[in-house]
Order: sequence, then C-alpha cells, then structure tokens
Amino acid sequence: MNKTACIVLAAGDGKRMNSAKPKVLMEVLFKPMIGWVLDSAEKLSPEEICVVVGNGETKIQNYLNTRGRQYSIARQTVRLGTGHAVMQAEQTLKNSENVLILCGDAPFMDDETMRCALKMHLEGNCGVTVIAASPDNPFGYGRIVRDEKGDLLKIVEQKDATVAEQHIREINSGAYWFNSKALLEALPKLSDSNASKEYYLTDAIALIKEAGHRAAVCTATHKAVVLGANTRNDLYSLNYFARMAVIGDLLQKGVEFPCTDGIIIGTDVEIGQDTVILPNTIIRGKCKIGCGCEIGPNSLIENTEIGDFVVLNNVQAYQSKVESGATIGPFSQLRPNSHIGKGVKIGDFVEVKNSNIGDRTSAAHLTYIGDSDVGEGVNFGCGCVTANYDGIQKFRTKIGDNAFIGCNTNLIAPVEVGENAATGAGSTITKNVPPNSLVLERADAKVVQNWEKNKLRKRK
Ligand code: UD1
Ligand code: CA
Repeated sequence: MNKTACIVLAAGDGKRMNSAKPKVLMEVLFKPMIGWVLDSAEKLSPEEICVVVGNGETKIQNYLNTRGRQYSIARQTVRLGTGHAVMQAEQTLKNSENVLILCGDAPFMDDETMRCALKMHLEGNCGVTVIAASPDNPFGYGRIVRDEKGDLLKIVEQKDATVAEQHIREINSGAYWFNSKALLEALPKLSDSNASKEYYLTDAIALIKEAGHRAAVCTATHKAVVLGANTRNDLYSLNYFARMAVIGDLLQKGVEFPCTDGIIIGTDVEIGQDTVILPNTIIRGKCKIGCGCEIGPNSLIENTEIGDFVVLNNVQAYQSKVESGATIGPFSQLRPNSHIGKGVKIGDFVEVKNSNIGDRTSAAHLTYIGDSDVGEGVNFGCGCVTANYDGIQKFRTKIGDNAFIGCNTNLIAPVEVGENAATGAGSTITKNVPPNSLVLERADAKVVQNWEKNKLRKRK
C-alpha cells in the first residue's frame, strides 16, 4: 500500500483551445502545461504518479517518454468528466492511502502548496482537502460554497452556479488531497445530472461529507497557483504571468532589462549579475549565462551555457557552450555542439556547427565552420567554408593554432591545416597542409589578350 499517490487528469478534449494538440501539451514558457504539473508533483516524491490519458493519448505518451521516469497510465476512452476520469485510475486509488488529484491544465500549482495541503489533510484526518484561492477573476472556475460556520459545503461549477454563487470569489484549484478509500466509495455514486452532463469530481466532496468524513479547504498563499487554461486567452494570460514572474525574479538577482519588449525567458535559465538582456530575445531550455554579458537584441538562445562578459548580438545558439569574453554576431548561428573558446570573435553571417573553436580565434565575416576542431589564435578571412559533407558522409577539418585561413578558402574535409600555416585566398584545399607553410590550390592566372575587342568584332 502506497502512503501517497498522485493522479494527473490529462484526458480532456480541450475543445475550447481550438487546436490539433491535446490541451495539456500546450506550452507556457515553452514547457507543456502537464510538464509544469509533473515537475511540481515529482518534487513531492509520491510513490506513484498516474496520468489519465484519452484525447491525443499518443502525443502525451511521447512527451512522458522524454521525461525519463515511469508513470502509470490510465485510459479514459470517452470523456465523461473529471469524476469519470479519476474512476479510470481505480488501481492507483486501491493501492494508496491518500491521493493528490491534479489537473494537467493548471501549471502553477506548486509543491509547497501541495505539501501544505497534505499536512492539513493528515492533521485534520480529512476525507478531502481542497486547494482554493481567490483570483482576481473567478469566472469559469468551480466556486467554493461554505456553510454559515464557514465549513466547506460543496463546489459548484460556473455553468451550474446561481447568480449568488457566481458572486463567490473563492474558487476550486482543481487540486485536492483525498483519502483514497473515501474517494473510491464516493465515485460510483456520482451522477451526471448537471449543465454539462458530466460526472464531476467536485460532486464527490458532498458525498464524502455525507459518508461522515471531514472536508477541509487549504487556501493557497499565492493566489496565482490556481490559474488554469481552458482557452487561448487563458493560455496567453498564463504565459504573460509566468514571463513577468521570471523577469521579476531575474531583476531581483541583478539582471538588467532596459525594457522587456519581446523578451521571453524560460524557468530553467540562470543569469548572472549585471548581464543586460536586450529586446526580442528568447532564452529557453536549460541555459546558464554568466555575469556582465550583453545578450540581444533579437537573439534566440536554447540549452546553451555562456560564460562571463560575452556579447551575443542577433545570435541564434542551440545546445552549445560559449566561454568568457567571446563576441558573437550580428546575424550568426551556433548550431548544436559548438564550443566557442575564450575571447573568440565570431562576426556577421558566420555559422558554426559541431565544432570546437580555440581561444582568441576570429571568424569575422561570412564563414561556415562545420565538424571542425580549430586551434587557438586562428584567423579566418572573409568567406571561408569547411566542406564537411560529400553527399554521403560527414568529415572533420582540423586547424592548428595560429593558422591563417585566407579569404574564400574552401577546406575539403577530411583535411588538416598545421600550426602557423596559411592558405592563399581563393584556394580549395584538398590536401593536408604542413605546419608553418603556405599552401595555394588555385590555377595560375591565364590572360587572353584583346578578348573584348574580338567579341565586338564578331558582333558586327
Ligand atoms: C475543473 C473543476 C473546477 C475547477 C477547475 C480548475 C470539475 C468538474 N471542475 O473545471 O471546479 O475550478 O477545474 O482549473 O472538476 N479531464 C479529463 N477527462 C474528462 C474531463 C476532464 O481527463 O472527461 C481533465 C482535463 O484534461 C483537464 C482537467 O481534467 O486537465 C480539468 O478538466 P476541465 O474540463 O478543464 O475542467 P474545468 O472546467 O476547468
Ligand atoms: Ca480546466
């Protein structure tokens, strides 16, 4: 018997979103809503987490597979309401003493609130403990109806509420702790005689009370934890709220934002003191940015680690690492697996992919460096290309320290350029270049005398 289990409701059709995607996979700050919910639930370490799936089941299962842990799955083949959804997780209820029910479309419910509610639930020996709050706009949520003593009487849904009930500001977050046995006994008694013709989980509360159990309300300290998304407007509001919360937190930590226009930063991003983030910059995935950097404008940084005093101006960077003092941009791209050394200069229209660039190397303009290991202090002239692909296979290019790659050099991989070697401008290098040498691979100039005069004569 598990002491605690968690059931996440994620089978809903999400019709109000008007999307081909299951609602719980819709993203807030680039993370699916159900990802937020599971992240918080996992911090609580329940012995089992069961996800109820239905609409878009395969897509949800694929997402769960990326999270690298085991979930039990319950299937709800027809969507008959939240109470019916919980019934599908009967096995989880049978195996646990207390169960936390969470909605996959309410991303901000945090572990601190869940823990607080569990304490109240256990200390009060309750059949159910509902997590509630009073958000600024209660429209659309189930209202908490209390009796004259202030005890929880029932939850009434928006569609079923009387005018007086609609004025209640206190709402149901959709997250509750239930005594599993009490819930198991109540579920078969639910009816669908309501405005939505659904089996409401919220109706289990009155039934649990009738069976002689206590019902408590845990009021969340932060009212935003209850917010959920049923419509695109709701999703937009959640994104706005989360975005400003992340920026607010970074401001506290000494990050500078001259303005916040177009700036979206995910929750797994760390940024050091005195770093300035300029407009239209998106930083997402797991990123760590050092102190005193200037990031943006117009940049997209994903799963990338950046040292101190780095400048990224109009840069796209994915799954890469940039060491301190590097300057990149404008209009440059770091594709996955690029490691940029200290003090490197990467200029305009330069693309780096799956390459190591040694300290103080410079590629100032119009260059492609792919599948390459470049030493320290190398200089790339304008328009250099590592030709890494022969149409079938990819090959690496190796360039030694302090080599000088002349303008418009093509390096046909696999190829090596030795330390302190130079390639002549316009060369297409097909053979390894020994250290300290100059290599030229281009035809000698051929001059045809009177070329234009002959052309003119023929035309006449
Ligand atoms: C629900 C609550 C409401 C609460 C609100 C909080 C009920 C009856 N109402 O309303 O009191 O204020 O959440 O956000 O519970 N789902 C299924 N199967 C179904 C129906 C829903 O798995 O048959 C899932 C959905 O995917 C969603 C969650 O349950 O993740 C909540 O369902 P939703 O239809 O969004 O309920 P609300 O109307 O928001
Ligand atoms: Ca909802």
